Amino acid sequence: MVLMSKYILFAILQGAFILLSVLVQAQDQAGFISIDCGTSGDSSYTDEETGFTYLSDSNFAETGENRDVSAAYKLLTDEKQLWNVRSFPEGTRNCYTLKPSQGKDTRYLIRARFMYGNYNNESTVPEFDLYVGANLWDRVVIKYSWTIINKEIIYVPSSDYIHVCLVNTGLGVPFISVLELRPLNNETYVSTEGPLQLYKRYDFASSTDRVVRYKDDVYDRLWSPFQTDIWKPLNTSLKNDTSISKNSYGVPFAVINTAYTRNRSTSYMGIYWSSTNRNSKYFFYMHFAELAKLKKNQSRVFNIYINGELWYGPFSPPYLRESTIYSFSAIETDSEGMIKIWFNKTRNSTLPPLVNAMEIYILKEFLDQETNQTDVQAILNIKLEYELKRNWQGDPCAPKAYSWDGLICSFDTTNLPRIISLNLSSSGLQGKISPYIADLTMLQYLDLSNNSLSGRVPEFLAELPSLTILNLKGNNLTGSVPPALLERSKNGLSLSVDSYLLGNETSSPPSNNTSSADPGYSFGKNKFVLPLLASGCLLSFVL
Ligand SMILES: *[C@@H]1O[C@H](CO)[C@@H](O)[C@H](O)[C@H]1NC(C)=O
Ligand SMILES: *[C@@H]1O[C@H](CO)[C@@H](O)[C@H](O)[C@H]1NC(C)=O
Ligand SMILES: *[C@@H]1O[C@H](CO)[C@@H](O)[C@H](O)[C@H]1NC(C)=O
Ligand SMILES: *[C@@H]1O[C@H](CO)[C@@H](O)[C@H](O)[C@H]1NC(C)=O
Ligand SMILES: *[C@@H]1O[C@H](CO)[C@@H](O)[C@H](O)[C@H]1NC(C)=O
Ligand SMILES: *[C@@H]1O[C@H](CO)[C@@H](O)[C@H](O)[C@H]1NC(C)=O
Ligand SMILES: *[C@@H]1O[C@H](CO)[C@@H](O)[C@H](O)[C@H]1NC(C)=O
Ligand SMILES: *[C@@H]1O[C@H](CO)[C@@H](O)[C@H](O)[C@H]1NC(C)=O
Ligand SMILES: *[C@@H]1O[C@H](CO)[C@@H](O)[C@H](O)[C@H]1NC(C)=O
Ligand SMILES: *[C@@H]1O[C@H](CO)[C@@H](O)[C@H](O)[C@H]1NC(C)=O
Ligand SMILES: *[C@@H]1O[C@H](CO)[C@@H](O)[C@H](O)[C@H]1NC(C)=O
Ligand SMILES: *[C@@H]1O[C@H](CO)[C@@H](O)[C@H](O)[C@H]1NC(C)=O
Repeated sequence: MVLMSKYILFAILQGAFILLSVLVQAQDQAGFISIDCGTSGDSSYTDEETGFTYLSDSNFAETGENRDVSAAYKLLTDEKQLWNVRSFPEGTRNCYTLKPSQGKDTRYLIRARFMYGNYNNESTVPEFDLYVGANLWDRVVIKYSWTIINKEIIYVPSSDYIHVCLVNTGLGVPFISVLELRPLNNETYVSTEGPLQLYKRYDFASSTDRVVRYKDDVYDRLWSPFQTDIWKPLNTSLKNDTSISKNSYGVPFAVINTAYTRNRSTSYMGIYWSSTNRNSKYFFYMHFAELAKLKKNQSRVFNIYINGELWYGPFSPPYLRESTIYSFSAIETDSEGMIKIWFNKTRNSTLPPLVNAMEIYILKEFLDQETNQTDVQAILNIKLEYELKRNWQGDPCAPKAYSWDGLICSFDTTNLPRIISLNLSSSGLQGKISPYIADLTMLQYLDLSNNSLSGRVPEFLAELPSLTILNLKGNNLTGSVPPALLERSKNGLSLSVDSYLLGNETSSPPSNNTSSADPGYSFGKNKFVLPLLASGCLLSFVL
């Protein structure tokens, strides 16, 4: 076996055991999430074709409006999921939060689908950005009202939540038709460099002209039929789904049972395209199975070249056994921004090359990290406790441009983003000061002024190690400021409270709380300027 040094990390997986194929077959829908965006409240339904239960978005998205596509476009597709959309006229970033049962560090396929269908009678297709977690997944560019766009990414989340967000870029109101999540076999599509965005997934020489998905494909990948007159189709007369043994990629029988080859006289097959982005890096997963019973004096041996370099070979696909060839390292375009794939038969081979299916992915280099999960959980608990109706969606800090209102975060290259400032002034807060604030351990600035908070000033505020500014004025608190907090205020903490809280244990708020005559008390330095460099701007607080 000859391997080029550039692509040392080769692998070839061959379906070897019937047992494996049985295991792949046995997997059910466990952990699949299927959302029909824009269906009304509690109306989930079972899709006849796939058997999936499509849920409404009520448990996954907090904002947006349900709309039906116009009647003319419903006629164009049988897929009921595309008949309505959820659109997001309010806010810049709106998010879905998925909580897959397998949790973090598992490989998922996430698919978002879009069909505009003139749902708003404006006959203008929007253009917007799609994010997963803190990073840009892709831009959604829709050509026509009837265009169906599928975006797919293979992603390993670092937290138990996955945020899928639509961002308004000023080119129309974002919307979405379908959102789906499928757990994959953890050992497949391994990329250490980043998530993989689907470019193409082809079922060569498909005899049906239909997209193959679940239940044929246990992972619910969408295999598009690829047909051409240039190549010669080859198929197996076998009808039994288990007659081709599978490897862990589990390419469905309906896909692998057909292949393209050439006439006997032709020794090669070539595929090439011009990359829209010259800097794109590609990952390939090529699936093979010999479908013809070769005679003793016959052989099918070929080499696979990408951009002129041997990628794999010589290779002879085993009879009725799925083989997947892939590399662990990304492949760049050539100097002209092209990708050229050649399957060339070796001199000794009596038969031309063959290929059954191919998946092409583009590497996404996700650079922005999501907020520390302790902080995320704390701020979510605070949001829940105070029933905040703010547009707080997606990751609290990242990406920096869409940090939540009222939060300031620290960003640096080595640590995850942390919440360092929380401003909930004049937010109609009721009840006591939330104990979850104690979990925001990097907090420097906390402003809870002008709310209706009651109860005592909690001790834990004195234990937030980095706290430098605390404003509790204009609330309905009782008791008095804990001594430890007063002590902190002598050592750099700028503390602002209503004066009555400085009395003793029997103090209570004045009966008329709307009075603004009480100047309250401020401790620490009188004019405090705290530079919060996090977001690049200098914030000054004068107390
Ligand atoms: C998947 O693999 C990762 C490491 O790559 C591991 O941490 C995780 O537990 C695995 N998940 C499952 C479901 O096996
Ligand atoms: C679009 O137009 C149709 C027909 O005029 C009407 O029934 C429908 O309510 C309109 N939809 C919206 C969102 O305005
Ligand atoms: C195999 O190909 C032939 C000729 O194209 C076609 O008639 C036949 O239906 C195909 N068989 C299968 C199992 O797809
Ligand atoms: C398919 O093949 C398997 C194993 O060879 C066999 O157990 C099964 O009965 C076959 N099914 C059909 C429908 O022929
Ligand atoms: C080779 O294939 C082409 C196109 O598929 C066909 O037109 C031609 O007749 C074939 N030649 C032979 C010798 O089979
Ligand atoms: C292979 O053997 C068959 C007879 O079994 C014969 O008809 C054919 O011409 C041979 N092909 C080659 C390339 O030798
Ligand atoms: C593969 O075959 C094609 C067509 O004959 C040829 O242009 C190309 O140079 C070959 N590639 C290699 C690496 O031999
Ligand atoms: C090709 O065939 C020749 C003669 O039949 C043989 O000596 C040689 O080893 C073969 N090469 C390969 C790579 O199979
Ligand atoms: C998140 O913050 C908590 C509390 O400060 C800390 O214990 C934990 O190590 C941090 N997690 C990561 C992944 O940095
Ligand atoms: C403050 O608390 C007292 C006693 O708990 C209550 O009677 C009063 O209505 C509260 N005032 C405000 C403005 O919430
Ligand atoms: C607490 O307040 C009450 C009534 O205002 C006063 O009688 C008492 O002396 C105060 N105690 C302290 C320790 O300041
Ligand atoms: C409360 O204060 C407001 C404004 O200072 C005043 O107009 C109002 O009369 C006061 N109410 C009572 C009950 O003291």
